[in-house]
Amino acid sequence: MQKPKVYVTRKLPERGLRIIRNHFDIEIWPEYAPPPRKVILEKASEVDGLTTLLSDTIDSEVFDAGSNLKIISQYAVGFDNISVDEATKRGIYVTNTPGVLTETTADYAWALLMAVARRVVEADKYVRTGKWRVGWHPTMLQGRDINGATLGIIGLGRIGSGIARRARGFDMKIIYHDVNRRQDLEEKLDIKFAEIDALLREADFVTINVPLLKQTFHLINEERLRLMKKTGILINNARGKVIDENALYKALVEGWIAGAGLDVFEQEPTLQNNPLLTLDNVVVAPHISSASYETRSRMAEMVAENLVAFFEGRTPPNLVNKEVINIKLPGWR
Ligand code: GLV
Ligand code: GLV
Repeated sequence: MQKPKVYVTRKLPERGLRIIRNHFDIEIWPEYAPPPRKVILEKASEVDGLTTLLSDTIDSEVFDAGSNLKIISQYAVGFDNISVDEATKRGIYVTNTPGVLTETTADYAWALLMAVARRVVEADKYVRTGKWRVGWHPTMLQGRDINGATLGIIGLGRIGSGIARRARGFDMKIIYHDVNRRQDLEEKLDIKFAEIDALLREADFVTINVPLLKQTFHLINEERLRLMKKTGILINNARGKVIDENALYKALVEGWIAGAGLDVFEQEPTLQNNPLLTLDNVVVAPHISSASYETRSRMAEMVAENLVAFFEGRTPPNLVNKEVINIKLPGWR
């Protein structure tokens, strides 16, 4: 029997690729940079399944090109690069890789938080560039205490909860905002609900842990940044577009807030002339919060498992658009 055809838009860790190779007739985009749009459209027209990254735009044009396309297996928990409603209409399954990257991503939110609060990157540069000319000084590179401070978590999903659990070790007061009040977690994590504006006023550290949706686009805008403490620090390793970057730059330069840690940007890669990159009170990273060897391998395995389940006629374990199951379309769809 002929194997289903799968196009893999970037070389994934071997643990997943091995499974995909074993089950499918596959082709892999060989380069580090993303495939051009033309290639995505051309390949979509030839295959039964695609594995995608969040830097691949998968919209109705791709679906229309993909007359045999049945499944998009995304290598990420977020899927704002995929027009999921359009996929559903056409009976195309969309899967993601939730859960496995939760702890790894929560770790990284903390790495950024601590780096900004205690000026870790600045201190490193200070030593390397020969600025360390007196042995010790009472006011050298003072930062902000994490212990005993108030942490405000916006979005108490899996990752937000993971960040809260870690905060317990620092004796922090924890508040959260979420569209869903989570009474179960409030007790378990000893954490209190707050309206978003109240949270911004009260927290010393604010972490962003919401997905990018219409309702979360520029959730953190100029008005909200002005609510934060002057000593406040903002951490984002969710999606760049949740924060209005121009407003953030103003907030950092004009001292409405004290610092920011950013693993995500409105545009990725961010431009080299992004003014945020000129600021010492900002720590930046190239969207690597889930990038541990273990997690990235496991994500690849999940991408493979979702494909295998689908083509064996089972419901993929991480189906995003569950409504698709009931869509009745002519032919295979
Ligand atoms: C990465 O940002 C992901 O959504 O997995
Ligand atoms: C993602 O894993 C989330 O729900 O926070």
